[in-house]
Amino acid sequence: MLEHDRQLRKRLTFAIISHPDSGKTTITEKLLLFGGAIHIAGAVKSGKKVKDAVSDFMEIEKERGISISTSVMGFEYGGRKINLLDTPGHADFSEDTYRGLSAVDSALLIIDSVKGVEDRTRRLCAVCRMRHTPIATFMNKLDREGKNPIELLDEAERELGLGVRPVTWPIGQGRSFKGVWSLLEHKLVLFNPGEVERPTETIEIGDLADPLLEEKVGASLASRLREDVALLSGVYPAFDAEEYLAGRVTPVFFGSAINNFGMRELLDVLTAIAPHPTPKVCEERLVLPEEEKFSGFIFKIHANMNPKHRDRVAFLRVCSGSFERNKSYHHVRTGKPFRTANPTAFMAQDKEIIDVAWPGDIVGLHDTGQFKIGDSITEGESINFKGIPSFAPQIFRFIVNADPEKEKQYHKGLNQLAEEGVVQIFSRPGHQNTRVLGVVGQLQLEVLQYRMEHEYNARCTYRPIDASIAYWIDSDDPAKLRKFVEANERKILVDIRGTNIFITDSAWALERVRSENPAIRFYATSEMTEDRAAYS
Ligand code: G4P
Repeated sequence: MLEHDRQLRKRLTFAIISHPDSGKTTITEKLLLFGGAIHIAGAVKSGKKVKDAVSDFMEIEKERGISISTSVMGFEYGGRKINLLDTPGHADFSEDTYRGLSAVDSALLIIDSVKGVEDRTRRLCAVCRMRHTPIATFMNKLDREGKNPIELLDEAERELGLGVRPVTWPIGQGRSFKGVWSLLEHKLVLFNPGEVERPTETIEIGDLADPLLEEKVGASLASRLREDVALLSGVYPAFDAEEYLAGRVTPVFFGSAINNFGMRELLDVLTAIAPHPTPKVCEERLVLPEEEKFSGFIFKIHANMNPKHRDRVAFLRVCSGSFERNKSYHHVRTGKPFRTANPTAFMAQDKEIIDVAWPGDIVGLHDTGQFKIGDSITEGESINFKGIPSFAPQIFRFIVNADPEKEKQYHKGLNQLAEEGVVQIFSRPGHQNTRVLGVVGQLQLEVLQYRMEHEYNARCTYRPIDASIAYWIDSDDPAKLRKFVEANERKILVDIRGTNIFITDSAWALERVRSENPAIRFYATSEMTEDRAAYS
């Protein structure tokens, strides 16, 4: 039990979230560098392709230079074992990102200080807020002429629905960027542009009235800093870690990832304040990480990490107890026993076989097709973890096998990729052989075609269907539900669990149907509990 406690206190599992191009890949790399997990300083500078070295596994990602799948990297820093989930920033893969967020205990939000709060930033924060996931914020690219920092804070508070608490404050910006003042520790962290080895110089000042400030940053920036800090202390209450842990406020850091500036301060504070593994919600009860018995859930399935083998890896988040190699567990959905001789941990680019994993850890399980996203694994108890729903797709297509001689490969590929969460597959009531695909973004359609061809030697084409809005439906009155489904037959699809979804192509038509059918409930996710507003 003592060991369990020690391991729990060590763990920190978080995801980096951002709008594309804010600097997520750069920051991930710098964090791994500080953690000693990689040794490729400056690699990001040399172009998009090199990024793949860190977190991208799939061929198609390399071609497109965008991060498609969530990958996991582990490293040690400041006495803590850090599990970092890299999530796709591209809007077309938002489902993958939302699921990744179910497996972490906190998030690091990156905002580009030139652009401010962007569309994806807003949506991702809404998902975190819904789950009360604590968020720390890093305002990046202070080496560029960006928005005024006060304006940035205002915008973040207004648009993200979170209180902001600056913990560092920039001195100058763009060409005049000199560094940051640490509001928590009262020290000056100076920026040495262009010096990769020594990007930072830290000076203990204690009091902003110290004339050393003028000497280091010049009279004008020194007086500006004093004014800013006086203003901030009047506007923002002091940072309170409890409020951050409750998901009500976000500590805000300023820096420049590409220049390696502000990263160490960020990591130091994160390792001090970010939450240990948190309780996770099951349909049946709340599971505490301190519980002695093991439990966990699959939040992601990734095929073909090694293109030479047709293997799949299921990503398991450990929620309680400890997961041990060669021990027999209970796969709740199938009721079958599950054991593995080669569970893996992810350490930057490497995978290594582990003997034991603790709450907060992400374990890779070799998957021969037995797992589905959302599956729970336990030491015997039949519990089902929540928070890993499917999200209502916005793009629908009929899918057609373009090479009828490859019928077997076509079905195998389609089923496996649907299980992996690349697309959602629906059928039409009364038309058993018609398959309809649903995706959140256009790019997923291209990924499906590419992977079908390259991994399964099968080709598919799409035909349009009039739908861009979808809701899962149910009702307390089965007769009314049946009647509704019959009356709207052409607008009903059935998901893999047999639940009906209602599709339409206009918000106006949806509103009319809703008002005419008060007995029918409409849900944005397959869990049928969430509020659509969080995702749209
Ligand atoms: P992403 O994963 O969130 O999409 O962002 P990524 O790290 O790829 O960064 C997006 C662009 O912003 C990259 O430039 C990167 O070099 C740049 N960048 C990241 N951090 C900073 C910073 O602190 N200051 C400045 N000025 N730029 C920064 P790119 O030209 O798109 O690509 P690359 O050729 O440099 O890789």
